Amino acid sequence: MNMDLKNKTALVTGSTRGIGKAIAIELAKEGVHVLINGRNDEEVERTVKEMKLEFPDTFPQNATADIVDTQQREALFKQHPQIDILVNNMGIYEMMKYEDVDDEVWEKYIRTNVLAANGLSKFYLPKMIKNNFGRVIFIASEEAVMPSGQMPQYCMTKSMLLSLSKSLSKLTIGKEVTVNTIMPGPTLSENVHQIIEGMYPNEGMTFLEKEKEFMITNLPQSEIQRFIRPTEIGRLTTFICSPYASAFKGSPIRVDGGMVPTIF
Ligand SMILES: NC(=O)c1ccc[n+]([C@@H]2O[C@H](COP(=O)([O-])OP(=O)(O)OC[C@H]3O[C@@H](n4cnc5c(N)ncnc54)[C@H](OP(=O)(O)O)[C@@H]3O)[C@@H](O)[C@H]2O)c1
Repeated sequence: MNMDLKNKTALVTGSTRGIGKAIAIELAKEGVHVLINGRNDEEVERTVKEMKLEFPDTFPQNATADIVDTQQREALFKQHPQIDILVNNMGIYEMMKYEDVDDEVWEKYIRTNVLAANGLSKFYLPKMIKNNFGRVIFIASEEAVMPSGQMPQYCMTKSMLLSLSKSLSKLTIGKEVTVNTIMPGPTLSENVHQIIEGMYPNEGMTFLEKEKEFMITNLPQSEIQRFIRPTEIGRLTTFICSPYASAFKGSPIRVDGGMVPTIF
């Protein structure tokens, strides 16, 4: 499908693996030049080379930075001052008991999952508005609207992104610039794949059988009864980046496999 995104430039945070990498690949399929980000420079370089090989008409670039670190963000801005699309994908998560979430943990999650994305948006959004084209996307989670109770420190930051996204969207009135939030449900990143493999060491089971078993036991509310594939998030994100999605303004967009049981 032609999404009319050829020759746009996109920064996808956390794009050396998982959902971020899938988003980078789907954007590159549409001719977008993607800036690959992660903290590990070797991994970033490897991903850039891989992308260049697979999508030779595009110009993927190295955007190594720990985006939680203000100074490294500043260096990134100097290196890549102009982009058309910002996908704030990077985020950390882990299961924690509420009693174990002390102030240090709250602060770490807010700095990593909210302030890093906010810092990037604050720099790039005004430029997009001036340019009269731009897309900012926050990758949240279904836990933003349906906290499971298993990771309170994570859920709160993802809910915050919904609010931030709507506030920023208010700055784009009358412009061909949009700010939206995508809320994936449980997704089969490399991390999740490893966890599932580790939970069922029985060699007689295929991965699909393990996945099915996991879903029945742990996520019975999922209507697809499988993990979402990162590519599925990548394709949706690419559409939201396209000029065909101009009417999505400050929207929380669910792609959760039916996890959230309510209409809205
Ligand atoms: N997987 C799921 O089931 C799921 C469901 C809903 C929502 N989400 C959300 O989707 C997003 C991606 O999740 P994922 O599971 O794909 O993540 P992931 O597999 O853990 O990928 C993490 C990526 O972020 C990079 N990264 C980590 N910290 C960074 C930092 N400080 N600065 C720059 N890059 C950094 C990593 O590279 P380095 O380690 O080299 O820095 C890597 O490229 C997250 O926001 C997550 O909350 C995930």
